[in-house]
Amino acid sequence: MFRFAQVFRQLIRSVSLLSVITISSVQAADKIDLIIDTDPGADDVVALLMALASPEQLNVRAITTVAGNVRLDKTSRNARLAREWAGREDVPVYAGAPKPLVRSPIYAENIHGKEGLTGVPIHEPAKGLESINAVNYLIDTLRAAKPGSVTIAMLGPQTNLALALTQAPDITRGIKEVVVMGGAHFNGGNITPVAEFNIYADPHAADVVLKSGVKLTYVPLDVTHKILTSEARMKQIAALGNTAGKLVGGILNEYVKGDMEHYGLPGGPVHDASVIAYLLNPELFTGRDVNMVVDTREGPTFGQTIVDWYNTLNQPKNVFWIEGGDAQGFFDLLTSRLGRLK
Ligand code: RIB
Ligand code: CA
Repeated sequence: MFRFAQVFRQLIRSVSLLSVITISSVQAADKIDLIIDTDPGADDVVALLMALASPEQLNVRAITTVAGNVRLDKTSRNARLAREWAGREDVPVYAGAPKPLVRSPIYAENIHGKEGLTGVPIHEPAKGLESINAVNYLIDTLRAAKPGSVTIAMLGPQTNLALALTQAPDITRGIKEVVVMGGAHFNGGNITPVAEFNIYADPHAADVVLKSGVKLTYVPLDVTHKILTSEARMKQIAALGNTAGKLVGGILNEYVKGDMEHYGLPGGPVHDASVIAYLLNPELFTGRDVNMVVDTREGPTFGQTIVDWYNTLNQPKNVFWIEGGDAQGFFDLLTSRLGRLK
């Protein structure tokens, strides 16, 4: 009898050990190795806070900055600010391209303010930038990475990645997928009648990334304009009562005014945070594989993303295009992750 009890106890121990290894390996397997390329930017800062508050799902290896909403010195300062607000100064910030590949630079100070961030006090963050340029960081990191292991969240113009791909085409090997906030199809653009800002600010870069053959998911205005703030959702964030909730409340209250006025909407989108929500919980979104091309010709359709939604031309499907999203599910996720911060 005693022998049986001994064997039974040993069996229980081995089963529980096996289950622990299984769970931890599944969790470890699910963790996303992530580089966030960004032009903070109000909604970029919200996206950074959300990502940096989710270390069990996102291993944010670095933040790389680019000129876009505002000039590079400001986007880089704001990325360091978001990192400090999230208590994640372990994540390095690399500054990248100060201007687009070909076109003349444009900015969105009318929306994001001269400092690239409104509604909150700005200060010089304690921790500085890394010394090497973001483009060199991308090349070195993606060359050294295991094949198909690194995900890139692209929250601004795609200049940094386009420069890296041009200098080192072999880096596609290290990329798992690139999730882009950008583009517009069904309801037109936000910087021209047909173009969305991130693409319009550097369409040649978007074209280089598209033609590189990396796995691409686009989170366009088609879906971000369905995920809008509201009084109740802003109250949900304010009810957190922590610093992060107060910062995001202040930032979004200012940021959404432009879109609400322009579109006559009752709330505004949090474009870039939708990319992070997709990485954290893709079930919140719907889309389909499509053929997409970017118009790089100067003129009225400059920067337009042309999406063959009904596969009319039967061309290769090169992008997963998201057009649906669970708005309340997004704000519940955003609020819960902000609630983890101080
Ligand atoms: O069109 C919206 C996009 O342009 C967002 O990424 C916003 O931050 C700006 O960069
Ligand atoms: Ca952005």
